[in-house]
Amino acid sequence: MNKQALAEFDGPPLVDPVTLMQDPHACLAALREKHAVIGLDVKQFMVLRANDVLGLLTDPRTKQVEGSDYVALKQIPDGFAARFLSDFFLFSNGDEHRAMRGLFARTFAHGPMRESRMKIREIADSIVSELPRGESFDFVERMAARIPAEMIATILGLPVRDAQYFAPRVYALAQAVAPRYPIDRHDEIERAATDLFAYVEDHLRFRLEDPCGDLLSLLAADWRASEVLSFDSLVNQVLGILVGGSDTTRAAFAMLVALLLEHPMEWAAVKEDQSLIPGAVAEAMRYEPSVASIARFTLAPLEIGGALLPAGVMLSVSTLSAMRDPALYENPDRFDIRRVDGPRLHPVFGLGPHRCIGEMLARLEMAEGLAALIAAAPDIRMEVAPRMSGFGGIRQITPMHVRIG
Ligand code: HEM
Repeated sequence: MNKQALAEFDGPPLVDPVTLMQDPHACLAALREKHAVIGLDVKQFMVLRANDVLGLLTDPRTKQVEGSDYVALKQIPDGFAARFLSDFFLFSNGDEHRAMRGLFARTFAHGPMRESRMKIREIADSIVSELPRGESFDFVERMAARIPAEMIATILGLPVRDAQYFAPRVYALAQAVAPRYPIDRHDEIERAATDLFAYVEDHLRFRLEDPCGDLLSLLAADWRASEVLSFDSLVNQVLGILVGGSDTTRAAFAMLVALLLEHPMEWAAVKEDQSLIPGAVAEAMRYEPSVASIARFTLAPLEIGGALLPAGVMLSVSTLSAMRDPALYENPDRFDIRRVDGPRLHPVFGLGPHRCIGEMLARLEMAEGLAALIAAAPDIRMEVAPRMSGFGGIRQITPMHVRIG
């Protein structure tokens, strides 16, 4: 921020984002006690308290940040990555958003996803059977990354072996939605976006010529029948599904296993009684979430906990902070897989029209992955625990070294 803007700024207290990186939970708890909102910049504010966080996600005085504004704000150079972000339905509003989300809504609905449970378990069992025995390995790479990639390939109708090709590129492209665009990695991000675009485009064109009943064939046929979007835009929406369902679930699943291994009583309880698994999944996503905040844009001036915010600024709505707010959860710093408090809809997946389309898939991948591990590797031990870093947007997880046998 330039010195003049800083001198003239008269809003909520400005907090240097670097200070939040060290220990986000402790920092946010201390700030939340005193302030409902902090400034990260003169035009970017972070909302901290649970009641405000939950209210703002569906408040008509806010909207989703539009893709082109997102790209401009993050100063992402023009190219495939920028065009993907400008186009992806996550960053759209109203009818446009509804039409594009509608392309995928039926597939990812809870009913059809539950029917995929067996397939998810099959994939998880096969991955666990390939894990090394008697040596240390990175659980994030060898298991947590594979489940979402192989499952999304199965759902879309891509060859499962292609996960090895697209997954590393998807993880590279996902860096584009970090709170600050990592410009030093732009070439890597752009290469990944270019490769992925070509990969998805080829598959969709092939299905247009020769449909085979999979989801990509249905999408291609729907696109031809309605033509509400350009072909490039259809490619970008499929790319968005690949990106949305990868990093988030990989980190969330690894963190679930890590938290259980770090809490031996809870780990023993889950092994003993697998009906505790869904509660463990929900609690791990609350306690150390893979998504920390959700972006919104103010359409009108807002008063939040005494702080006045103008129209036309970016809000970073901190679900990370809300999920450790004692106003929402009793004893929020305790990891408790039997927890029954908190709202009916898990805040980690957002609220309102953009609520995560992949929620059921993510929950099932984590639950079935854990069940497969308990069945075939109950003696798994932690050697180097992972750390979830970041206080906004999608968080990053460090490697997690474990040993089986
Ligand atoms: C633990 C795992 C996951 C977490 C924590 C998570 C979190 C979220 C959140 C918070 C949003 C809402 C963003 C907003 O309101 O601006 C969202 C949207 C979305 N998620 Fe997820 N997600 C996860 C897994 C998945 C999976 C497995 C998929 C795969 C299909 C997916 C695809 C999407 C898509 C396409 C959107 C955009 C929805 C829309 O704008 O209508 N996510 N996710």
